[in-house]
Amino acid sequence: MPRKRPAARTDDFTNTIQRCDALDLAARLPDASCDLIYIDPPFGTDSRRASQTGQSFNDSWQDGLKGYLRFLQPHLAEFHRLLAPHGTLWLHLDWRAVHYAKIQLDTIFEPQNFMNEIIWHYRTGGLSTRWFGRKHDTILVYAKQLGRHRFHSLRGGEYRTDGLNFDGNRPYKMTRKGRLYFNPEGPALTDVWDIPFLSTVSLERTGWPTQKPLALLDRIIRATTNEGDCVADFFCGSGTTLAAAKALNRRWIGCDKSAAAVRIAKNRLKGAKHATMD
Ligand SMILES: C[S@@+](CC[C@H](N)C(=O)[O-])C[C@H]1O[C@@H](n2cnc3c(N)ncnc32)[C@H](O)[C@@H]1O
Repeated sequence: MPRKRPAARTDDFTNTIQRCDALDLAARLPDASCDLIYIDPPFGTDSRRASQTGQSFNDSWQDGLKGYLRFLQPHLAEFHRLLAPHGTLWLHLDWRAVHYAKIQLDTIFEPQNFMNEIIWHYRTGGLSTRWFGRKHDTILVYAKQLGRHRFHSLRGGEYRTDGLNFDGNRPYKMTRKGRLYFNPEGPALTDVWDIPFLSTVSLERTGWPTQKPLALLDRIIRATTNEGDCVADFFCGSGTTLAAAKALNRRWIGCDKSAAAVRIAKNRLKGAKHATMD
């Protein structure tokens, strides 16, 4: 189906949340207008995703996985068009569809522009006795053009090394040649991220189902953007990406097709209550 011609100005949508279909907003944005696109679309769970507060969105697809992949593909192609040459796309999924989506992304972005498969590991209740507990999501990261992409290496967490000593806050190990100092900010982050899932009593909770932690988006945004860059989330739900982008002085663009999600996200962006990390 022919799509509307892109609008001439990204500014029309900067720091706004639209209530619309992701493809409709994407089609109105100019080429190369986004520095970072993070999306956390429905995962293809074949269910209605609901929160304890009764908010919900549909995640079931006519024709099952095939129908889901038919939905996803044009979005990914459009997001490729929207990325600046130094831009990156982050696609957040789980074990159900991520391997098929990887093939779609390899086709659209070219395999040489693949950057990372981030494993977001968390602990939540409910463990299976029939297989190992499924306690991670996968986030695929692609550069529009690997080599030109924006990336800031980040540090954090604990060094997993025996015999660590401290000189003030500077960790070191004794070696035959003397003290070997480590960076006090912690080890360089790898592609496995341990970030707690939002607890049921977290102050960050907005009531929107499948809400992601601000700490996750804070890390993604800091790793691949600079202040003033444009961060877009076309399935913004409760607005986690937008709240994190705002807190980091980035420009942001969001949309969601659910009126309830847009209401929650707009309130969240207005006030500080849900925009702060616990
Ligand atoms: C997994 S949730 C996003 C959660 C979000 N990351 C957060 O932290 O709150 C997926 C969202 O996609 C929205 N959605 C589903 N289909 C859509 C479409 N075609 N266009 C825009 N939004 C859509 C749903 O309403 C839902 O809010």
